[in-house]
Amino acid sequence: MKLPALLLVARIAQGAIPGLMPLPMKVEEVAGRLVIDSGFTVASTGATNARLDAAMKRLSDRISRETGIPLHKGTNRPALVVECKTNSPQTPELGEDESYRLDITARQATLSAATTTGALRGLETFAQLVVPGADGFEAPGVHIEDKPRFAWRGLMLDVSRHWMPVETVKRNLDAMAAVKLNVFHWHLSDDQGFRVESKRHPRLQELGSDGNFYTQNQIRDVVAYAADRGIRVIPELDMPGHMTAWFVGYPELASAPGPYAIERKWGVFAPALDPTRPEAYTFLEDVIGEMAALFPDRYFHIGGDELDDAQWKASPSIQAFERQHGMKSSAELQAWFNARVQAILKKHGKTLVGWDEILSPELSSDAVIQSWRGPDSLAEASRRGYRGILSFGYYLDHMLPAKTYYLNDPPAGLGGEACMWTEYASSESVDSRIWPAMAAIAERFWSPREVRDIDSMYRRMARMSRELEWLGLKHREDRVERLSGNEPNRRLYVLAGVSDATGIEVRRDARHYTSLVPLNRFVDAVAPESENARALEAMAARRNGTDIEALRVSFEQWSMNDTGNRFPEELTPLSKNLSATGAIGLEALRYLESGKAPPAGWIETQRRTLDGFEKPTAEVVLAAVRPVRILLEALNQ
Ligand code: ACM
Repeated sequence: MKLPALLLVARIAQGAIPGLMPLPMKVEEVAGRLVIDSGFTVASTGATNARLDAAMKRLSDRISRETGIPLHKGTNRPALVVECKTNSPQTPELGEDESYRLDITARQATLSAATTTGALRGLETFAQLVVPGADGFEAPGVHIEDKPRFAWRGLMLDVSRHWMPVETVKRNLDAMAAVKLNVFHWHLSDDQGFRVESKRHPRLQELGSDGNFYTQNQIRDVVAYAADRGIRVIPELDMPGHMTAWFVGYPELASAPGPYAIERKWGVFAPALDPTRPEAYTFLEDVIGEMAALFPDRYFHIGGDELDDAQWKASPSIQAFERQHGMKSSAELQAWFNARVQAILKKHGKTLVGWDEILSPELSSDAVIQSWRGPDSLAEASRRGYRGILSFGYYLDHMLPAKTYYLNDPPAGLGGEACMWTEYASSESVDSRIWPAMAAIAERFWSPREVRDIDSMYRRMARMSRELEWLGLKHREDRVERLSGNEPNRRLYVLAGVSDATGIEVRRDARHYTSLVPLNRFVDAVAPESENARALEAMAARRNGTDIEALRVSFEQWSMNDTGNRFPEELTPLSKNLSATGAIGLEALRYLESGKAPPAGWIETQRRTLDGFEKPTAEVVLAAVRPVRILLEALNQ
């Protein structure tokens, strides 16, 4: 029996099939279950390579860790057999066949794939299928046929605004592999830091990074780590704007005299490369040559976004150059510059990727356009024959609810990339800004388009969130108690559990932030979307007997949570609002249970109160409001 997406979602909700994420293209239930015991082994027949061997070893280790079962080398037949037809290239490539089939019966599991990369994807599915059964752990009988909807499924990480050490990058690569993402876009340079070692021009990192940069050996190590997981690594060196950090060591590259200092503020800044000087291209040729050798992927990102042309406009020599070449605008000069950089990249065997500002007729048609300003630029790029990837609508730094990202569907094209800009995320908090929402986005990029049931997504995302913790992700790590000097502080914990951290849209206006301001406040320890509040919303919508009781327990806890609190000063209004929300919730429950209508105007008054509570306070939003709102609406029926 083939299960269409909706039926599959229903079977998962019934607990018949574990909640896979991303959801496979086709799942059939098969009688029986494969028992996972200490004799569990994986073996491959057919094509194999070191990457697949390593992935099979990781699978065994992971199953052992997550089940708590020490695995002994079994003498029986392997529990999981992997059959690949062909070896994937040493370095993952765009457009590889990532399809696989997975058959699990009581006797054995068989994973077949056209390529070893496809097998990597299937191993991740197998890992997600291992669940506790009536008697120990097991994997249910299934027949799965799966392949991705899009070839380019990425995450961009900005390591310039806040430094992200190698270990942070690696654990995020592990998480990416777990949800079948295959592109890591590494935003390596910006106004606030040049983060990769150049041996030809070492002042780039020596003066442009505060000492926080990746050595070339570290880059090779991360690239190999990613390749092991079937993930391509695309470096980005943003130019000709967003380059202040380059100019600290090499002010002569800029369009106005220096000196320059590493930028500490957030925003768009005036310093821009002078594209009219031949020396600029010699320099870029050196740096791109070095990076081209470090990053084996065919694609290379040159940024190109948000050029502030103030320096170009103010420079007599640049203006004279534009006139000589018949250029009528800074945009035309930037287009000319892009074409020259594209030629340099071509010499090194690289294909240019850039943000949508680079779209211009000067660019040869193999360039890839990454749309961040809106879907229109992608349509325009496609009309003009360029390939495109969608990032508009996948900005993780906005910290939107996962469903908002999830329902944003990429148009036909290469696929999509979520972007983690890090003005308001440090290596400590970044996991919690990416995950688990990124898992929902990964499903959007992988699964059939019609897979879009929000409740199912949230249930499976909650499961994936815990799975990621086993893989070493720190998104669920509790950092709230730091605020009470590591003293136990249940009330603070309750408040954090029903608050949503706000994103860049709120935080940039909330106070004067720079890269020197520590991200160690309440907002930084709180998740962007409260899982607890979501669970309560679901209860408020269902309102069966146990739901009502659970809601009452929460509301009572909230209503008393402000009493005798020991919170940081900035949380005083938020805490009072939580208690008031709890009181409104209790009153709403009383009306619902008694069947007695509230007095005229009561619902409207409470609604307005909750509206006020939902405005950001201390840079968080009180998520506790949402389930109470649902009860008010129910009373209003
Ligand atoms: C961008 O967000 N400036 C690409």
